[in-house]
Amino acid sequence: MTVPAKNKPMNIKHLPKVELHLHLDCGLSYEVVSRLNPAVTREIYQEEFVAPAKCLNLADFLTRAVKGYKLMQTAEALTLVIEDMFRQLAASNLVYAEVRFAPLQHLDGGLTSFEVVDIANKAFERCIHQFKIEARLILCTLRHYSTDQSMETVKLVEQFRGTNVVGFDIAADEAGFPIDPHIAAFKYARENGIFITAHAGEARGAESVWETLEHLRPTRIGHGVRSIEDPLLVNYLIAQNIHLEICPSCNVQINLYNSFTDHPINELYRAGVSLNVNTDAPAIVDTTLNREYQLLVDNFGWTATDFYTCNVNAVKAAFISAELKEKLLQKLGEQFSLPNAL
Ligand code: HPA
Ligand code: ZN
Repeated sequence: MTVPAKNKPMNIKHLPKVELHLHLDCGLSYEVVSRLNPAVTREIYQEEFVAPAKCLNLADFLTRAVKGYKLMQTAEALTLVIEDMFRQLAASNLVYAEVRFAPLQHLDGGLTSFEVVDIANKAFERCIHQFKIEARLILCTLRHYSTDQSMETVKLVEQFRGTNVVGFDIAADEAGFPIDPHIAAFKYARENGIFITAHAGEARGAESVWETLEHLRPTRIGHGVRSIEDPLLVNYLIAQNIHLEICPSCNVQINLYNSFTDHPINELYRAGVSLNVNTDAPAIVDTTLNREYQLLVDNFGWTATDFYTCNVNAVKAAFISAELKEKLLQKLGEQFSLPNAL
């Protein structure tokens, strides 16, 4: 496989990309929102669906997510939002994406949780072929959910085994709610061979990452950036090959860091932690994966080689078969070598 030459100028838009941390309900474009609710003007969208450049904290940031999922309560709405998401993936030249959402947030219109996942899975199947982008779904439980709600969510992942539904996650307010009620669902996931990731080390520090690794035992951590506060933890992540799904602008926006330059992604990467670059919530953060890459070039001088390395690590950490990993690695190798990408 050809590895790209160092320090060449690059065309970010054409770089092939892999995204592992992307919330479906936090990525509605203005076009899809106005189609679902024509009363929403651009000004209202900006005010209600996009967060200010600086939020007080994660909980403040998450108040914007409510607007998105409230609009996604029917089969038609869910399908339109998924098509909208794939259009955005195509615009950043994604070759593989894992998209997550909490199915139990979509029951207000009378759908059952099974129907919600079935609709999303079928829409993914259609879009994967239409857009020629490989993509899979991760189902999230939420920190404020009960043990029963977490169990219902993990059992949905099991029921959809062999489809585009491939993993289980815990999201929402890390600082406001403990992980204890969810330990049983993650145990169930492990016992049933379900891939696991978990949000941690974002609204709380390294101790939260340790706690999550000990009790939920994920192979990946959503964010995990505050691992940098504990060198022993950084060494542990490297030794155990725990992959960090890093979402730089999102972390700056929830006020973890003053500016992009203060973000520890470069330090974690140079230390040898397996990580990749993600948007988390493109609508709320008002970003794209192309923009995140550009910010990494501007702030840390990242080269095509650095993006290649991160994307290879993302494929290796993806919740897919060895065959598909091999196919994607080959695609990355080929596209990173194209003259218009470098
Ligand atoms: N953290 C936790 N839950 C979330 C986030 C996040 O950054 N974004 C959307 N849901
Ligand atoms: Zn997230």
